[in-house]
Amino acid sequence: MILEHNVPLQPYNTFGIAARAEALVRVRSESDIHAVLKDVQLLKLPRQVLGGGSNIVLTGDVKGLVLKMEVAGLHLAGETDKAWIVEAGAGERWHDLVAWSLAHGYPGLENMALIPGTVGASPVQNIGAYGVELQDRFHELDAMDLFTGEVFTLNAAQCGFGYRDSVFKHASHGPEDLGLAGRAVILRVRLALPKKWKPELGYLDLERKMTETGIANPDARTIFDWVCQIRSAKLPDPAVIGNAGSFFKNPTVTPEQCADIIAREPKVVHYPMPDGSVKLAAGWLIDACGWKGKTVGHAGVYDKQALVLVNRGTAEHPCTGGEVMTLARAIQTSVYERFGIRLEPEPVVI
Ligand code: EPU
Repeated sequence: MILEHNVPLQPYNTFGIAARAEALVRVRSESDIHAVLKDVQLLKLPRQVLGGGSNIVLTGDVKGLVLKMEVAGLHLAGETDKAWIVEAGAGERWHDLVAWSLAHGYPGLENMALIPGTVGASPVQNIGAYGVELQDRFHELDAMDLFTGEVFTLNAAQCGFGYRDSVFKHASHGPEDLGLAGRAVILRVRLALPKKWKPELGYLDLERKMTETGIANPDARTIFDWVCQIRSAKLPDPAVIGNAGSFFKNPTVTPEQCADIIAREPKVVHYPMPDGSVKLAAGWLIDACGWKGKTVGHAGVYDKQALVLVNRGTAEHPCTGGEVMTLARAIQTSVYERFGIRLEPEPVVI
């Protein structure tokens, strides 16, 4: 077990916020967590799990122990009649898994290319992009109980996937409650990649690429390249400008609420959902309130996509998590005042 104290977390969160962890253990295998569970001093500390740090806002130093997930490994774990089963360690970069599986002849993840973060974080918020979500390709995962050290396997139903949601985002409130936040950590994820690959092109940005290029039947590699191009044009690269991807979830409203908003704002971008509700584009709502490109303190709204909050701090005046949350609350207030809709932040605030 490698234990470090007073560790700077700035390199480990894509927002690039300066904060420190009281203690940090790099988890490369199950035995590192077992060692923590046997250490009486470490056992007393509260625990936080850190993956790629691409979906968190640090509002201060982290008291207690950070488990930094670095479990490695990418391999073909098996096959069924219909699918290749690819397994990846929680500490692998998600995009590396997408590129590796494509290069080895197991396509199916290309729509989710360039999503920042690690494999272990991907089920936590059921990541998704361009018409495909993790749950569409998910087989099962291995996790460890952080109290007993026991390793267990969960299938998709047991993960309770929803829109940017899973059991790993919910705290447990009793023995009947399946919430696993703070209770378990994901070690490995297995994906089922269909042997009969079909392109997923039902998303406006991809349809535009088909028209532009004249390619009507793109292969997986072409879709991978298109998604990389679309994302790089629209979303800031965290290595250049700190951010945590979409900062708010796209809100869901009833058809009546939507009709009411359309009556006032005919251009509102909305998508009818299979369950009869309507999803609104949060980026459009924020943009309509005039926030695109604005800066408050050292936090800002990205100038090409209003749904992304960015770090506009400098070495002398770094952006704090408090500034990010102040900006987020100001945006929530103005969207509520204008549209009567409460935006819910997407990253985990620590
Ligand atoms: N829009 C504006 N102004 C803006 C931003 C967006 O008018 O400043 C409009 C766009 O023109 C578009 C609509 O809003 O018509 C939706 O925007 P976009 O297509 O960029 O997708 P999104 O709903 O903002 C979601 C996910 C992304 C994912 C993309 C592509 C959420 C919260 N975000 O974004 O996921 O990559 O779709 O599938 O669901 C993430 O979760 O971190 C993330 C980046």
